[in-house]
Amino acid sequence: MLERLCALTGAEIRFEPLDLRNREALEALLAEARVDAVVHFAGLKAVGESVEKPLLYYENNVGGTIALLQAMAAHGVRSLVFSSSATVYGDPERLPIPEDHALRPTNPYGKSKLMIEHLLADHAASDPAFRYAALRYFNPIGAHPSGRIGEDPRGIPNNLLPFVAQVAVGKLPALKVFGNDYATSDGTGVRDYIHVMDLARGHVAALDYLSRKKHSITCNLGAGRGYSVLEVVKAFERASGRKVPLEFAARRAGDVAASYADPSLAAARLGWKAALDIDAMCRDVWRWQSQNPHGY
Ligand code: UD1
Repeated sequence: MLERLCALTGAEIRFEPLDLRNREALEALLAEARVDAVVHFAGLKAVGESVEKPLLYYENNVGGTIALLQAMAAHGVRSLVFSSSATVYGDPERLPIPEDHALRPTNPYGKSKLMIEHLLADHAASDPAFRYAALRYFNPIGAHPSGRIGEDPRGIPNNLLPFVAQVAVGKLPALKVFGNDYATSDGTGVRDYIHVMDLARGHVAALDYLSRKKHSITCNLGAGRGYSVLEVVKAFERASGRKVPLEFAARRAGDVAASYADPSLAAARLGWKAALDIDAMCRDVWRWQSQNPHGY
């Protein structure tokens, strides 16, 4: 994703791992590099872990963002693209979900994302030169089409696609489908999956918007349609030519039946729409997983 982002923007690629809470290192980086805008992806994102370790989530996600905003302010960097999440909506009251939907996250991870959105709005109100795009991602999946960059979660994957891919490659025995009694077409959970390459383009569109329009935006990045767990499994079987054994299990705590975006604001303001379909997403996940059966 980074590679593509850099190719699209003509930016130089430099990897410098840095903990955002390390204010000194952050200051040193911003002092040395000429930075026009920051794309802030750094955050913890496991819902279950956030319930067990809320302070870690607030310290890392919220604290890290405060340190970043302070360092940016100190060095005159005034544009930020932030990875927010559809998780800020909580249990959807209506579908598709527009940006003005109620914001009621149900776990510390989601609350940390919403707190950051509030931080950004307050900071922007205090500094007219600062502007941001808070992008509420739906369910990013997929991999770089080269097969060189993909998702390699530590331990047993929490999310659907890495789990399915590891079953298909033979690393895990069977997928547990969490719930088949939801009020959806086949009883399994429905989500708005978006290819990471489309997501990357969404960030480029947001950077472009911030440089042209000079004001902030909060918007959904989703395809605007949902797929059930069983539909995703079928698509993955088509893409990989492998059977994905599955068993039905109890619902996972905190899961909702269906969630998909109203993506019209991103289309109108950013000129962005998701272009890649579920087959492309599965094909690229499979390319990465089959070329990297043991991960990185
Ligand atoms: C999850 C988080 C969300 C976070 C996102 C990060 C929860 C409740 N939500 O989204 O806040 O922003 O990941 O990527 O954890 N499923 C199975 N079996 C599995 C895994 C998943 O059946 O082994 C089902 C789930 O019940 C759901 C769908 O697949 O219906 C998608 O799940 P997942 O990929 O974990 O995404 P979300 O839960 O939507």
